[in-house]
Amino acid sequence: MVHRRPLVAGNWKMELSRKAALEVAMSLQKLTRDRDVICDVVVCPSFPSLSEIAAIFARSGRIAVGAQNVHWQEKGPWTGEVSVLQIAGMVQYCIVGHSERRELTGETDEEVIDKATLLMRHGVTPIVCMGETLEERKAGRALEKITDQVEKLFAAMNRTALTKLVVVYEPIWAISSHNTTGEEPDPREVAEVALLIRKIAAGYFDQEASDRLRILYGGSVRSDNVAAYMGEPGIDGVLVGGASLHPMKFVEIIQQVQRAIV
Ligand code: PGA
Repeated sequence: MVHRRPLVAGNWKMELSRKAALEVAMSLQKLTRDRDVICDVVVCPSFPSLSEIAAIFARSGRIAVGAQNVHWQEKGPWTGEVSVLQIAGMVQYCIVGHSERRELTGETDEEVIDKATLLMRHGVTPIVCMGETLEERKAGRALEKITDQVEKLFAAMNRTALTKLVVVYEPIWAISSHNTTGEEPDPREVAEVALLIRKIAAGYFDQEASDRLRILYGGSVRSDNVAAYMGEPGIDGVLVGGASLHPMKFVEIIQQVQRAIV
């Protein structure tokens, strides 16, 4: 049986000023300093605070730092963009294909794949987000959408790359800032999606590689619902937006995830 180390990832989006981001980081550092952290934890601040926040967490080594995006090319005339060469060595993870980028900046599946492969080449673990819109869900096309997104992703990977990747199932309609219905996905449905992704991975590669793939759930994760998602088989952690901005709430989520695995 392959052991997958759970991952709790905090996506700070563009919610915090530089000063506020440093305060949250310092408070997280204090709160986790003397605790055993038996899962992987990463926070993803905006680019300008990455290096200072990486330095804060480097002292205890309990929390990793990730970027929220990267460009799909190593260098070039891309005003305002950030290259993997500018973040590798500073971050261990990088979110790619978040729905907000797909929606607002028109990021395509192909760009997401290029970003993921480029990151891996530079030793950064991509956290690849995918998920259906509310319309796709209502039309009964959620599984079709996920299948299409993972098939494209896996087709571009080799076996070694697959085992280093993190995939997040994040239904767009469930993200707190987009959640107009107040509905949250049933944890059993999320587990079915995780199983589907793992079956596709086993088909492209083999069972062992598929068993090693980490699959997270994202979308309105809080300390009062995380245990339900973590209680389902095949869910290896969570991507947290809003709740990750509050150190106490984020630590509570980490603790719940840890409780689910012991
Ligand atoms: P949320 O955000 O936890 O606030 O829903 C998650 C995300 O967008 O990654």
